[in-house]
Amino acid sequence: MSVIRSAITGAGSYLPEQIVTNDDLARIVDTSDEWIVERTGIRQRHRARDDQPTSDLAAEAAKKALEAAGRTPADVDLIIVATTTPDMTFPATAAIVQSKLGVPTCIAFDVQAVCSGFVYALSVADGFIARGNARCALVVGAEEMTRLMDWSDRTTCVLFGDGAGAVVLEPREGQGTPADTGLLGFALRCDGAKSDLLYVDGGPATTGSVGHLRMAGNQVFRHAVVNIAEAVTAAAANAGVQIADVDWFVPHQANQRIIKGVGDRLGLDENKVVTTVAQHANTSAASIPLALDTAIRDGRIKGGDLVLLEAMGGGLTWGACAIRL
Ligand code: UT7
Repeated sequence: MSVIRSAITGAGSYLPEQIVTNDDLARIVDTSDEWIVERTGIRQRHRARDDQPTSDLAAEAAKKALEAAGRTPADVDLIIVATTTPDMTFPATAAIVQSKLGVPTCIAFDVQAVCSGFVYALSVADGFIARGNARCALVVGAEEMTRLMDWSDRTTCVLFGDGAGAVVLEPREGQGTPADTGLLGFALRCDGAKSDLLYVDGGPATTGSVGHLRMAGNQVFRHAVVNIAEAVTAAAANAGVQIADVDWFVPHQANQRIIKGVGDRLGLDENKVVTTVAQHANTSAASIPLALDTAIRDGRIKGGDLVLLEAMGGGLTWGACAIRL
């Protein structure tokens, strides 16, 4: 049976220049490089300049993805930006990115599912492409999580960073089998009853301010390991693939110990897991496309590889997605 699949035809990413090390943070809160590395695997994070909004990072990543796909802004008919740190309450960051790239009138909007945003956004774009409503989609994960930090709270401010990653999705005809190129299956989840475990204590309709990120780290950690493994298993089943067939796992980069915990539950070969958490820290919706682009550009992930993406974050949201490159 012939089906339309959404294929990744290009990827790109962008990190702001400034690097903040663990030692830099140990100068402002009671922490140490040793604690941060041991508990999280994080060694450094990037931080955007004051005059560099999220849309700037998104546009740079998107330009590189378009270049890799051999497409120009004129080809783009859909832009979805997954972000929890938009430039403004409105317009959508996707609209600003459209303008910065010089993309003619198209469909553009943001998806807000926090750290799971990129996986959610991919599935939304897949719907447009599969129904013939888009032929060249830019799906971007872009975040400036450092804007949400309470710099006196050592339990959160050491964990996050800024960055952006993007992919171009285009339709490819497939046979409806796991051998097809493109998005093969996904599993998305949200449990709003657990929203108090990870949230920002501000917003336009409550405090009227931006607010700061708050997290019950321990409880989020436990939720992540158990539930991500379930979503990965469900996404693989929906795609008709076995976990053992997966060439590369590209997890959300929140904590090296979560990545290992999920990997152990699923019996993954750790040589097949892409990790960038040491260099990027947790960049929320940007973390998966940043890691994906890193592994494509360094030659690990190649055309034809079966790749499994997974994420978990505020909401609580979580999910996974299987794609053949
Ligand atoms: O992307 C969204 C999803 N977010 C996540 O996945 C994050 C999930 N959670 C985590 O990654 C971990 O829970 C953390 C890294 C946040 C914390 O690690 P933990 O091993 O769960 O530590 P803990 O919260 O149990 O804290 C242990 C101790 C505490 O001290 P006491 O109460 O035992 O005296 C903390 O106050 O570590 C202390 N602590 C720190 N010490 C030095 C917490 N943060 C720090 C710090 N430096 N930065």
